[in-house]
Amino acid sequence: MKVIKTIREMQKIADLCRKKNLTIGFVPTMGALHKAHIELIKKAKSENDVTVVSIFVNPIQFGPKEDYKKYPRPIQQDLEICRQQKVNFVFHPSVKEMYPNNKILTFVEVTKLQDILCGKYRPGHFRGVATVVTKLFNIVKPHKAYFGEKDYQQLKIIQQMVKDLNFDIKIIPVETIRENNGLACSSRNLYLSEKEYASSPAIYKSLLYCKDLILQKKFSIKSCINKSKKFLDNLLSNVNHKIQYFEIYDENLNPVENNVKKIPAGTKLRIFVAVYIGTTRLIDNIGFSI
Ligand code: PAF
Repeated sequence: MKVIKTIREMQKIADLCRKKNLTIGFVPTMGALHKAHIELIKKAKSENDVTVVSIFVNPIQFGPKEDYKKYPRPIQQDLEICRQQKVNFVFHPSVKEMYPNNKILTFVEVTKLQDILCGKYRPGHFRGVATVVTKLFNIVKPHKAYFGEKDYQQLKIIQQMVKDLNFDIKIIPVETIRENNGLACSSRNLYLSEKEYASSPAIYKSLLYCKDLILQKKFSIKSCINKSKKFLDNLLSNVNHKIQYFEIYDENLNPVENNVKKIPAGTKLRIFVAVYIGTTRLIDNIGFSI
């Protein structure tokens, strides 16, 4: 496994692979690798000749009051995981390499999709994500890139960007990987205290509860949401918490009809939740057909 620090060297390697007709599978990450990243890497390895993992905590996707500084950076552990998974190249640039003089003037924005759900509460976040992913695509030059469904809005934004800007890259979604207790794997789970961690399965439980209510077809979407929020508040009553949003869209992030009986059979729905447990912001979602 080779660790690459410069854009130029990564591009040269990508060019060489392409010249040899080797396909490049790419897993973009911010490090603090866990089970879900390993799934992405395994999938990339199984579908490509060469696998590249990027590890870069991207400053421009964090708001001024967010956790950029304290975001975990266990680089030696991350490299060991990549080695074990037989990753071919890890692209691990400095902030200076990616953003010389701390300044770029060009940004990529996926309008509309960036304004709902997390985008409403994290202004500029998805612009930062779309911009860095564009840069990484131009540096790693992958044939396929792998994104987890835990960050479903991010996945849809990248898919839209690839379509709108004609990137010749196939985006491969990978299902959410969960801890044994149901909590969706995330690098931010590391922030949780023991007590907070113990209560965190409530998030996934509330999504399943909501799905169940919808499938009963007895309540409006609004009522299902309100009942599920109450259910979640109740399960989290022994820890400091705040539900930021609990929302339902279709699989393409279009709003859905409030009257469940009017939603055409076979429609694919997604339930989304964001909640602070203590000071840690966690998100999760599930998809199902009505
Ligand atoms: O999902 C992430 O870890 C990040 O948002 C990504 C896609 C690596 C961009 O920084």
